[in-house]
Amino acid sequence: MLYQTHARIHLDNIRFNIAGIRQVIGPERKLLISVKANAYGHGAVEVSRLAESIGVDWLGVATVPEGLELRQAGIQLPILKFSPAFPEEMESTVKSGITLTVCERANVNMLQQVCRSANLQADVHLKVETGMGRIGVSAAEAPTLAAHIERECPNLQLDGIFTHLPVSDDSDPAYTRAQIEHFKAIVGAIHAAIGRRVSLVHCANSGAVLGHAPGWLDLVRPGVMVYGTYPDPGTPRTIPLKPGLSLITRVSFLKKVAAGTSIGYGRTWFAPQDTWIATIPIGYADGFNRLFSNRGRVLINGRSYPIVGRICMDQSMIDLGDETDVLVGDEVVLIGKSGAEEITCAEWAQVLQTITYEVTCQINARVERVYK
Ligand SMILES: Cc1ncc(COP(=O)(O)O)c(C=O)c1O
Repeated sequence: MLYQTHARIHLDNIRFNIAGIRQVIGPERKLLISVKANAYGHGAVEVSRLAESIGVDWLGVATVPEGLELRQAGIQLPILKFSPAFPEEMESTVKSGITLTVCERANVNMLQQVCRSANLQADVHLKVETGMGRIGVSAAEAPTLAAHIERECPNLQLDGIFTHLPVSDDSDPAYTRAQIEHFKAIVGAIHAAIGRRVSLVHCANSGAVLGHAPGWLDLVRPGVMVYGTYPDPGTPRTIPLKPGLSLITRVSFLKKVAAGTSIGYGRTWFAPQDTWIATIPIGYADGFNRLFSNRGRVLINGRSYPIVGRICMDQSMIDLGDETDVLVGDEVVLIGKSGAEEITCAEWAQVLQTITYEVTCQINARVERVYK
């Protein structure tokens, strides 16, 4: 079957990446994979189904609707929402068996009240702030809040304590090493305050899975590496990864233009010679960023060609040169392999001055996902 613009999701490669993580962390430690933001653009339901079938222990989401979508699709794995819920979301979330994050007293009390009224029991994970500067109870207040949950909230069960590492992907490990030690000390103080050990203590995102074994603790929480990219070019490549997706379209129109002809909005590019121009049916509404205007490249039949003119909303133009054997309908690779050539997410991230996370997340819903 021929597709127009589509993202080919390499479930076999995602499986390979998960197997590599499992091999390194060992069979006892729990493995949570982050499937937020539609599994970083790869399809949350399909990736979660794969995860469930190969022994992943937990899934992580950012929002309640993301968690509910997985439950509606029949996913039964434990799901952690990485941040607190708003009051109106709490009952449906707990009823769906989605574990909530808590990090401040008013939110804890609201959750307790909702659970008592609905006669529900909820597992919660306490998020501690140790350097990310985003959400989390402070180190000083963490033991008191944990003791409050333990003693004053009979409908809540404190099942996890976690924090987040902002520079675990950095080639300089010093800050993250100190942060992990600080987090362990806070966890010790929480355990002393409640008189027992909480079962799931965790902090390791991809950077820490790759470079900080002391942070693996009871559970690891990788995201981006599951989808085949390293969080930063400087992160140690201790686990081999294969790309989770390719982005493909096809030539929709061909024309030969005379030297001096302008191409596209704003007339930003003029043909330096008589040349063949291909149009492709993908634009910034699909996530083919407008910053690629006159900058990026694509692959056709194993050869690399420059993008010329501005990226439009739905279409873009490619310079094929003064002679070509390219035909309407030929496959065009924007991310992925063609013959011996490859365009990686990391190359996109470099051109766009961003991170690979944004590259795959920004591939729009209009782009059909095709699962291999
Ligand atoms: C709380 C939390 N844990 C884990 C992850 C996964 O991080 P990464 O994709 O860098 O592995 C994220 C993603 O940002 C997160 O917010």
